Amino acid sequence: MTILLVKWIFVILHVITAAAWFGLGLRPRAEAAQALADDAAGTVRLMNIFVVLTLVFSLCAFFAGGGFAAYSPVYHTSILLIVVLVGLQLFLIRPAWNRLQSSARSEDSGALESARKRIAMSTGIGHLCWLVMLVLMFWNKLAAAF
Ligand code: HEM
Repeated sequence: MTILLVKWIFVILHVITAAAWFGLGLRPRAEAAQALADDAAGTVRLMNIFVVLTLVFSLCAFFAGGGFAAYSPVYHTSILLIVVLVGLQLFLIRPAWNRLQSSARSEDSGALESARKRIAMSTGIGHLCWLVMLVLMFWNKLAAAF
């Protein structure tokens, strides 16, 4: 009973942090490069935190729910994908935000726009991984329904 409650708390938490990461990643598509550069450091820091928290909370939910013995390979694949997403965030998305900041400092509008596009592209790849994970979360239920 208690462990079930603990699992669902982690399920809710990992959904919230995953949603926060997704939402922050939409900014480069919706806003101008200069507006983004104004608080780049804050956005990239929050994205780093939310993606790592998603990794931690999802593993907590996974092990509280019974781990490898209890969950099917779709959840094992999700573990792989969240590790890939953390890697994307730290090694592609974060450097792109840092580039946006440095091009804003040097007031180079061409470099600023190209940095914004780089963020949008790398975050787009991340959003795709995220959506695949979301589908995997419901895969067993979907498969059972058809
Ligand atoms: C960004 C990615 C993710 C999103 C948006 C997401 C979303 C969700 C949602 C909406 C549920 C509830 C599903 C239901 O009601 O049946 C769920 C459950 C769950 N998720 Fe995720 N998830 C993500 C990543 C992960 C990862 C990487 C793991 C690690 C294995 C994971 C482990 C779990 C577990 C163990 C449950 C509970 C399943 C159960 O016992 O019914 N999630 N997730």
